[in-house]
Amino acid sequence: MLRIQHLIHMEAGAKQFLTEEFWIFRLAPITGFHVKHANRQRRRMKFFVDTADTEEIRELSDTGLLDGVTTNPSLIAKTGRNFLEVVAEICTIVDGPVSAEVAATDFDTMLEEGKKLAGIAENIAVKVPLTMAGLKTCSHLSRAGTQVNVTLCFSAAQAILAAKAGATYISPFVGRLDDIGQNGMDLIGDIVQIYNNYPTLKTEVLVASIRNPTHIVTAGLMGADVCTIPPQVLKQLVAHPLTDKGLAAFMADWEKTGQNILG
Ligand code: G3P
Repeated sequence: MLRIQHLIHMEAGAKQFLTEEFWIFRLAPITGFHVKHANRQRRRMKFFVDTADTEEIRELSDTGLLDGVTTNPSLIAKTGRNFLEVVAEICTIVDGPVSAEVAATDFDTMLEEGKKLAGIAENIAVKVPLTMAGLKTCSHLSRAGTQVNVTLCFSAAQAILAAKAGATYISPFVGRLDDIGQNGMDLIGDIVQIYNNYPTLKTEVLVASIRNPTHIVTAGLMGADVCTIPPQVLKQLVAHPLTDKGLAAFMADWEKTGQNILG
């Protein structure tokens, strides 16, 4: 970053260098990664929680950090509860999008299920798998005004198709790519870059299968729109040993003053 600032200040009439175009197209080769991803128009990074556990959702929702929820059949199975009931309850806890996944694999049934799920609440995003039938369902539902999350994405080619089908969200699974020896976050970088090339595309990049805080920080550097985070990883984000150590020292010194802010 220092190099960028030097360049800007050294040049007479530096104002022209402050244009977005200059930063993206002229400085990208010098600065690489960070500027390469700087032309993402949407600047808000959303946090969804990846769970169907309503107690956990309630607890995290109270922090004000949650923008939505994602579920999948495995997470629903873990609750041991009725799918439609759990999803309806989650929709009452959070205002943001709640992803609920279809269970069928053929187009007709998927569409019927998708319509039923969309009827549960206004904030439902119907989740469909990245198959041809799923993309067709996505296309039909999104044209009818339903939010659609296309899940199980493992390649940039698949992400292009989801955007063409009008997906609201594309969910690339970074942890599962890491598991097979690929770098899941490279896929996020590629998708963000491809979508940026076509500013009219509205599909948001939703980083899924997150396993650790580094995935989230890298997603932020790349300009991904959403991270769906398991509750335990969300809690890990706040932790730092120097925060604990610093707080303990402040508390010990405060104790010595014998004061009480509330009187
Ligand atoms: O929501 C789907 C995704 O986040 C699954 O994560 O940990 O089962 O790969 P994981």
